[in-house]
Amino acid sequence: MKGLLIVNAFLNSPQVRSTYDALLAGAKRAGIDMRLMTNADFFVRLDDGLVRALPDRDPEGTDFILFWNKDVFLGRALERMGYRLYNCADAIEACDNKALTFEMLQGICRMPKTVKIPMTFNTIGYDDLSFEEYIGSSLGYPYVIKECLGSYGGQVYLATTSDEAHSILKMIEGKDCIAQEFIGESKGRDLRAYVVGDRVVAAMERCNDRDFRSNIANGGKSYPIDITPEQERLAVDAAHGLGLDFAGVDILFGKNDEPILCEVNSNAQFAALLASTGIDVTDHIYSHIKSLIS
Ligand SMILES: Nc1ncnc2c1ncn2[C@@H]1O[C@H](COP(=O)(O)OP(=O)(O)O)[C@@H](O)[C@H]1O
Ligand SMILES: [Mg+2]
Repeated sequence: MKGLLIVNAFLNSPQVRSTYDALLAGAKRAGIDMRLMTNADFFVRLDDGLVRALPDRDPEGTDFILFWNKDVFLGRALERMGYRLYNCADAIEACDNKALTFEMLQGICRMPKTVKIPMTFNTIGYDDLSFEEYIGSSLGYPYVIKECLGSYGGQVYLATTSDEAHSILKMIEGKDCIAQEFIGESKGRDLRAYVVGDRVVAAMERCNDRDFRSNIANGGKSYPIDITPEQERLAVDAAHGLGLDFAGVDILFGKNDEPILCEVNSNAQFAALLASTGIDVTDHIYSHIKSLIS
C-alpha cells in the first residue's frame, strides 16, 4: 500500500518534525510505503479547480493521503481529483475554526455557553465596545475569550472584569473571536482524548496549577487517565459530528466531572500522549486507514 504524507512546508520546528518522523515510522511498521510531500510541492488552480504537482513530484499511484495540514484549498482540490484524505479537508476546516466547530456541533455535544464576538475589520478595530456588557452579563466574570484560529493555548485569554475584557478585545481586534463561559471546576485541568474511528485509543489528563490553560506547550503536565464511557461518548460524537477520522478532543470537567467539550484538533500532537500512556496513536491511525481501504 502506498500513501502520501502532506505536511506544511513552512512549519519546521523540532516538535512538528518529530511528529512527521513518528508518522513515517508508524507507516513503516504498518507496511505502508509512505512518501513525504509538502503543500508547496503542489499548486492549486482556482480557475479550473485542478491541482498539479511540481515537475518530478507526481503523486501517482497513491492509495491514500494523510493530510497533516491546514491548507484546505489544496485538500479540497486533491479530493476533487479523487484522492481520499485523512482527515477530509472540510473536517479540518471545521476544526481549525473554534466558532465553526461549535456551530457544527450544536445539539450533538455538551459545550460551554459560547458567544460569537461581533466581527470587525483589522483596518478599523473596535471603536465601540458596548456589546461587551451583554456578553459579560450573559456569561458572568471571569469568562474566556478565544481567537477562532489558535493553538497551544496561545490565543486563549481569561477576562476577569469588563475592563480586562475590553483590553483583550482591543489587543486582538480584527481577529475573529468567541467568548465562552469559564468552567471553573476545570481551571488548569482538562482531558485530551485521542479518537480514531469509533473509539478513544488513548487519553491523558493535563494539569497546570499556575495557569487556567492546561496545554503541555504552556507548561501543563500530563497523566494517563481511565476515560469514562460519558467522556468517550462526547469525544467520539464530536469527532464524528465534524466528519473526522481521527482527532485530539479536549474535554473540560464540569460539576461532578460532567464532560463538556472544549475544542477539537484535527492534527493534534501526540508526543505527550505517547510519553504518558505508552500508546502510539499512529499505529491506530494506520490500522483505521487500512481497514477502510482494503
Ligand atoms: N471555557 C473554558 N473553561 C475553562 N478552561 C478553559 C476553557 N476553554 C479553554 N480552557 C483551557 O484553556 C486551554 C486552551 O483552550 P483551547 O480551546 O483548547 O485552545 P487551544 O487551541 O489553544 O488549545 C484548554 O486546554 C483548557 O485548559
Ligand atoms: Mg486545546
